[in-house]
Amino acid sequence: MSNSKILVTGASGQVGQVLYRHLVGLHGEDHVVASDIHQLDGFSIFEYMDITNQHRIREVIQRHKIDEIYHLAAILSANAEQNPTRAWNINMSGLLNILEAGVEFSIKKIFFPSSIAVFGNHANLDMTDQFDAQHPTTLYGISKSAGENWCQYYAEKYDLDIRSLRYPGIIGYTTLPGGGTTDYAVHIYHEALKQKKYECYVHADTVMPMIYMDDALRATSELMAAPKKNISIRTSYNIQAISFSPSEIADSISTYIPDFEMSYKIDFRQTIADNWPRRLNDQYAQNDWGWAPRFDLNKMTKEMLENLTLQPTIN
Ligand code: SER
Repeated sequence: MSNSKILVTGASGQVGQVLYRHLVGLHGEDHVVASDIHQLDGFSIFEYMDITNQHRIREVIQRHKIDEIYHLAAILSANAEQNPTRAWNINMSGLLNILEAGVEFSIKKIFFPSSIAVFGNHANLDMTDQFDAQHPTTLYGISKSAGENWCQYYAEKYDLDIRSLRYPGIIGYTTLPGGGTTDYAVHIYHEALKQKKYECYVHADTVMPMIYMDDALRATSELMAAPKKNISIRTSYNIQAISFSPSEIADSISTYIPDFEMSYKIDFRQTIADNWPRRLNDQYAQNDWGWAPRFDLNKMTKEMLENLTLQPTIN
């Protein structure tokens, strides 16, 4: 147990809910404040907080004497394309509000999730380097790319200890994703168990980088626990875990559900996926704080199917 008082923004989201529980496990429930515009059951301390409302952010930080923030509130890639203004307000103004509050209240550490979406087709998408060209083609990617630079600026100018990961698509069994391009890799497991079939919106051979939720949580807490002197990247770290295509995940599911059937109906998310890395070089994460994934595709499939079988499938 620690003495930190932690605020999680976007705590009702796909990652927020699970990260909240993970942090409660590490620090104790009195030390973690969940915040979002939707309240769910299961939060010991919850504050309604719209991330675009700076006054409210200040109030919550003061009331709970917050000294560490995990800023997860964001609009994901597919949803951002449908609502640019909302994506700008939440992804950009929301981050700026957190950074400003970070300076004002001398917040000790801030976590900002960035994304593989910061890269575009001027990067080497087969093995994207830490400092590869960023020409994002989605509003979400543009906001995360700018966000990384805002973070680095605040880290350098104000010595704010902001740490960040470029999350790949995150796959877990307790929560559903909310409007990303990598969402299929979660929905496919639910549908495989429910209907033994899935209609995928990207081509069979479209490879995207993904990560199992346990690995994503561990990466986040290992990064946050690393000594400050080890953190050489103040924009955001590349992390690599598993890269696969829809046909490969379908094959992996078929080893457990032999009559599983995959079909394809391609939509606008194909263009997004085509401009994202297929695999990333994560040597800085390995060297600076010892990153190594533990789940490969088949181990993840086994865990997903076993756990989803034990608990009711979410619709
Ligand atoms: N999973 C995210 C998305 O698809 C990528 O960061 O939007």
